[in-house]
Amino acid sequence: MTRIFSGIKPTGHLTLGNHLGAVRQWVDVDQHKSDAVFCVVDLHALTVEHDPARVRRLSRQAATLLLAAGLDPALCTLFVQSHVDEHTRLSYLLECTASDGEMRRMIQYKEKSARERATGGSVRLSLLTYPVLMAADILAYSADEVPVGDDQAQHVELTRDLAVRFNQRYGHTFTVPKAVLPSVAARVMDLQDPTSKMGKSHAETGGIVYLLDEPDVVRRKIMRAVTDSGSEVVYDRETRPGVTNLLEILAACVGGAPAELAEGYSSYGALKRDTADAVLELLRPVRERHTELCADPGYVDAVLRAGAERARALARPTVDAAYAAIGLMPPA
Ligand code: TRP
Repeated sequence: MTRIFSGIKPTGHLTLGNHLGAVRQWVDVDQHKSDAVFCVVDLHALTVEHDPARVRRLSRQAATLLLAAGLDPALCTLFVQSHVDEHTRLSYLLECTASDGEMRRMIQYKEKSARERATGGSVRLSLLTYPVLMAADILAYSADEVPVGDDQAQHVELTRDLAVRFNQRYGHTFTVPKAVLPSVAARVMDLQDPTSKMGKSHAETGGIVYLLDEPDVVRRKIMRAVTDSGSEVVYDRETRPGVTNLLEILAACVGGAPAELAEGYSSYGALKRDTADAVLELLRPVRERHTELCADPGYVDAVLRAGAERARALARPTVDAAYAAIGLMPPA
């Protein structure tokens, strides 16, 4: 069976963008048809300034929301990255496989480090090595496929390069994975800035629908979404990014093609109302289940404990093989 691995970083509250762009595909498709491993990648949240209590809280919340959204521990493996030592063990060996130049060429590193420096901050070394840790996440599990957004495609490319290089130098050790863009997912854009992705780490939150926003807040954010000049409802990402984003969200919630849904509307107001209704309907069961799970923290702990054990058992033999292959003396 195809092994897939994906991770979600606890740097902010999960958004409608995470849900429609990734999580829903994990729940509806991936966990049923693949041997799926999903990870709350908390170590990756430490690569920029962070608040320890917040990272701890968001990690737990992300795991709880993934369960609330429908990940089923009987069908997939769900765990927290820092609970399984194999990730950092393998990351070091991959640092000895990657070159300094190839790390500095990573687009996300260039953008994020420039932003950090522009605001007078210092750049953590882990921001540079982050893609190597991500490669370790993937290679430790011998994943065949990595469902990610296109902003992560370059990191999966790097992962492939490192796997091939390691295998050539030290003998076959790693499965060479490939990135898969989710097939049924929507690319949800910021409601206030429909040319940029609805990301969880943005400072401006008016254009971002969080899964745990109160229903009246969700409705207000969607009703205030920026639309485009003109007034007909047409589906065209280039000239009508705002309306197109609403149509994509509506289509992701109720099914159907966004361009066809457009034909049913003659005003922006009606489109916004229907989109808000559809999003609220989609999120209601997730919020309800989240509340139930929060009332039963022992259950979430038990799921994560069992998930970490299973993950460790999957990763350990591969990481041990890499230690041996690269020339480290095995313990007696
Ligand atoms: N870098 C990914 C992101 O920012 C998160 C991530 C970390 C990940 N490790 C991974 C995704 C391994 C897929 C596989 O979204």
